[in-house]
Amino acid sequence: MEAIVAKTSGYCFGVKRALEITENVLKKYKNKNVKVFSMGQIIHNRGVIEDLKLKGLEVVENENDITSGSVFIVRSHGMSPEFLYKLKLRGVKIIDTSCPFVKRAQSKAKMISKRGYHLVIIGNKDHPEVISEMEHAGTTELTVIETPDELELVKKHEKIGVIMQTTQIKSNSKAIIAGLLDKAKEILIENTICKVTENRQDVTRQLSKNVDVMLIVGGKNSANTAHLAQIARQHNSRTYHIETYGEIDRAWFNLPDLTVGISGGASTPEKDISDVKDYIENFKF
Ligand code: F3S
Repeated sequence: MEAIVAKTSGYCFGVKRALEITENVLKKYKNKNVKVFSMGQIIHNRGVIEDLKLKGLEVVENENDITSGSVFIVRSHGMSPEFLYKLKLRGVKIIDTSCPFVKRAQSKAKMISKRGYHLVIIGNKDHPEVISEMEHAGTTELTVIETPDELELVKKHEKIGVIMQTTQIKSNSKAIIAGLLDKAKEILIENTICKVTENRQDVTRQLSKNVDVMLIVGGKNSANTAHLAQIARQHNSRTYHIETYGEIDRAWFNLPDLTVGISGGASTPEKDISDVKDYIENFKF
């Protein structure tokens, strides 16, 4: 079989940056008896997090597990300013790996709420990035919706200001914004979709149209990877979302001369992509 890898696959610059900072911090404090913590996953990829744990990173779920005098790494999706302030007061050194695109969305959320708009965030309300944007907005005057079906959750307001989770699909945001026209006299739209994501989605869309089977590689909890799978499925019903080549099912390939497209999320290591490519190219019927 032929394997075609999307040219946009592999780490985005935000993930690369977060990992480089984290690796350097772990190296710096390795032999100094200083603990390095993170809360939740720094990036959404289990294999990468396991590797960082082996290098000394302590991933905790509870604030009380972070000890005074330690170092705390803010994940690429950003975190609550109040939470970080409390850690600073306890003598914890903060290292921020938030992606600059996420920081931009956070500051737009804050600006919109300060100017008296009702904030609408288009995204997944349970995703760490959206939670950080809500926390930076510093208001309860906000609504988070993910699809046009949820438009009824947005009440009528004089003024509505909109931001998007950085990994949103543009067409979905457009449909929601069209629906918001009935909800307010004035609408302020800040396009906070990350350009890297948009480009990756375009390339994946195109590739999925031209292959027999499409494989999307990356964390099942990664929003940008899940969106790639959603886009590919719209154009190719034989689309599968896998974390590693080990999840490939032989039954997906019924003929020897199939063309298989491969696209990876922003937090998918090159190795995971090349393993899938090797598997496809060496597949024996
Ligand atoms: Fe940042 Fe976009 Fe990557 S928001 S983490 S550059 S997908």
